[in-house]
Amino acid sequence: MNKVEITGTGSYVPPKIVDNNDLSLIVDTSDEWITSRTGIKERRISQGEDTSDMATKAAIEAIKDAKISVEDIELIVLATVTPDSFMPSTACIVQKNIKAVNATCFDVSAACSGFAYAMDIAVQFIRAGRFKNVLVIGADTFSKILDWKDRSTCILFGDGASAAFLQSGEEDQILSTYTGSDGSKGDSLTCPAVAVNNPYVDGVTGTIKSVVGMEGREIFKFGVKVLEKSVKALLQQADCTLEEIKYIIPHQANYRIIECAAKKLGIGMDRFYINLDSYGNTSAASIGIALDEVRKKNLVKKGDKILIVGFGGGLTYGGFILKVNL
Ligand code: ACO
Repeated sequence: MNKVEITGTGSYVPPKIVDNNDLSLIVDTSDEWITSRTGIKERRISQGEDTSDMATKAAIEAIKDAKISVEDIELIVLATVTPDSFMPSTACIVQKNIKAVNATCFDVSAACSGFAYAMDIAVQFIRAGRFKNVLVIGADTFSKILDWKDRSTCILFGDGASAAFLQSGEEDQILSTYTGSDGSKGDSLTCPAVAVNNPYVDGVTGTIKSVVGMEGREIFKFGVKVLEKSVKALLQQADCTLEEIKYIIPHQANYRIIECAAKKLGIGMDRFYINLDSYGNTSAASIGIALDEVRKKNLVKKGDKILIVGFGGGLTYGGFILKVNL
């Protein structure tokens, strides 16, 4: 089996900062409510950049970091639930933008677990010997699918993109990967696409509004449960203990979800890397942005282990343990 190294990371968020007070001007909310319920203080909102634009910027940063040539990229796996279009895939648009002419490209739909799913796919392709140089991207423009009149959802999300470059190498840096899904609870976090409407459909099915719907409390309980479950599964597979983990990077959805999971795991909040106060929930970009920050702020050194967990719509969850070698 080939060994997998992460040789570069990158991230991008749009420059426009929207803080909680700004939101209180458009919906009936307050900084106090949002901060105490979620931990979010501000988020970045696109002023026109689409998912592929942000993904391209994060990808270029990861490619530069990995010091590889774009012609060497063999696979681009892009996680998103807010693609630019049904067709072409956002991965193919990024391929065009960066001129990665030798890459196979496709999108993965796993909402906020997207980056974890895409990483797992990339790892398995490299281990199997199918590809040696893989670009993983998580990118979402949630601002375009939010109901900006719904105060229970529009305050939670932000826009952004993140990327990681994975290569076949000397040392295996991925100590374990884990994924899971529970489609039976899919209705608790939704964004409908288009209705089946053609000359052979009886009656008019009407237009569907593609906006996010969420049962907040269900998602809260789910997040706490699968965070704990994923951490335990990843540790067991990697044959390591929580004490050996330098940082847990959880999906940045809500401070209180992480707090509840920390209690269940019997650890302090200082074991988690959290940046949701600055970005809100950036969906598929979230854990990759945090990973990039942890690396670029030099918070980890060679040999440190990072445990990364995502969870989101689908419902889906998953993660990986990474041994730092950069
Ligand atoms: N400002 C002020 N009041 C609000 C707001 C707001 N932004 N949103 C809701 N409220 C009100 C409600 O209308 C309700 O009022 P009522 O009692 O008069 O009816 C009251 O606050 C309580 O509403 P709840 O929905 O019960 O509030 P709760 O304490 O459950 O918090 C929240 C809501 C923050 C969404 C919580 O359920 C949560 O964090 N859930 C997890 C959701 C999440 O993180 N989703 C991220 C996407 S999914 C993912 O990434 C996996």
